Amino acid sequence: MTCKEGFEKVLAREVMTYGLTPESQGQGWVLAKEIGTCSFQEAGGLCFAIDILKDVIDIRTTSVNTFTDNLLEVFLTHLGTRRIIDPWTFRFISCGKEQLIHHALTLQERWFEKLRKKMSRVAHLAKNGIPQRTVFGEGLFVCVTDFNQAYVSFHALSQGQQRMKMDPQAPSRSYLKIEEAFHILDRCPKEGETVIDLGAAPGGWSHGALKRGAMVIAVDNGPLREPVKSHPKINHLQADALTYQHQGQQPIDWLLCDVLETPEIIISMLLKWLSRKSCRLFIVNLKLGRRDPIAVLAHLRDPQKGLLAYCQTLYIRQLYHDREEITLMGEIKK
Ligand SMILES: C[S@@+](CC[C@H](N)C(=O)[O-])C[C@H]1O[C@@H](n2cnc3c(N)ncnc32)[C@H](O)[C@@H]1O
Repeated sequence: MTCKEGFEKVLAREVMTYGLTPESQGQGWVLAKEIGTCSFQEAGGLCFAIDILKDVIDIRTTSVNTFTDNLLEVFLTHLGTRRIIDPWTFRFISCGKEQLIHHALTLQERWFEKLRKKMSRVAHLAKNGIPQRTVFGEGLFVCVTDFNQAYVSFHALSQGQQRMKMDPQAPSRSYLKIEEAFHILDRCPKEGETVIDLGAAPGGWSHGALKRGAMVIAVDNGPLREPVKSHPKINHLQADALTYQHQGQQPIDWLLCDVLETPEIIISMLLKWLSRKSCRLFIVNLKLGRRDPIAVLAHLRDPQKGLLAYCQTLYIRQLYHDREEITLMGEIKK
């Protein structure tokens, strides 16, 4: 599993909560045993993992040439007599330093060149990427962990975190977080929908909803910035986001919340929204502060007191654009 640099220990502890045994770890990755049998997908995914490669093969060599030869052999053995007729995916990744990422790309290029020479039809059907689904996708996936080491797998899953492009019009960099959350949820607000944005100022998240044509009720005592401030579809309420309640019989479409408060306060507020079915979809950012992330996750995933009971879909992720934070995204049960 890959993760953000500096979060290896947290990820190792997180996988242990699913009965997996962390075996080793390095900069931006954790190797654990028995991923095939664990049930993290039903519980919102692994929060601190980015890409997950299953049943990895450890390849160690010093030269690029030997590595790509070995890898080609491993790949051909895996294919056996199987005939590839559909498009398939491959991806070389690395979470280490810039140089290692560059090295992974060199390996990818060289390996692909060799594949093209040996099996041009198979190479022609190749697509670069890791499937982002709830089940593992098949292909060739390589996680380069050092200049002489890589883990190779034929089954991988991307949990969707990715770097987003900044919109120069957006009032804040928080905008990147909401864009990433829309991408992971594979849903975003649209024309005719209503969004409540708690802790909205200066307006990055509201901007993400407004530019898609939704109406936004922005709740924050602080000021909004342009172009959100005077947008015709914004209603700015200078009120307390924690006690704000949606009035009306019908649930609103989206609840967004990026309030600077403790995880306990935000989770308890979110649970009220979910239990009253006051919204259909939600994106909520939790600032971890000094809290133990694993204790926060345990609270969120608690079968009785957590979010799962209310959610049709739930993703709990540390986003690419999150710092000491995690983000909850989901759709509530009808
Ligand atoms: C991280 S900022 C939000 C950034 C915003 N999502 C954006 O994209 O620009 C947190 C906001 O929460 C607001 N906030 C904190 N406590 C609040 C409360 N009890 N009620 C309303 N707003 C609150 C702060 O005023 C601040 O504007």
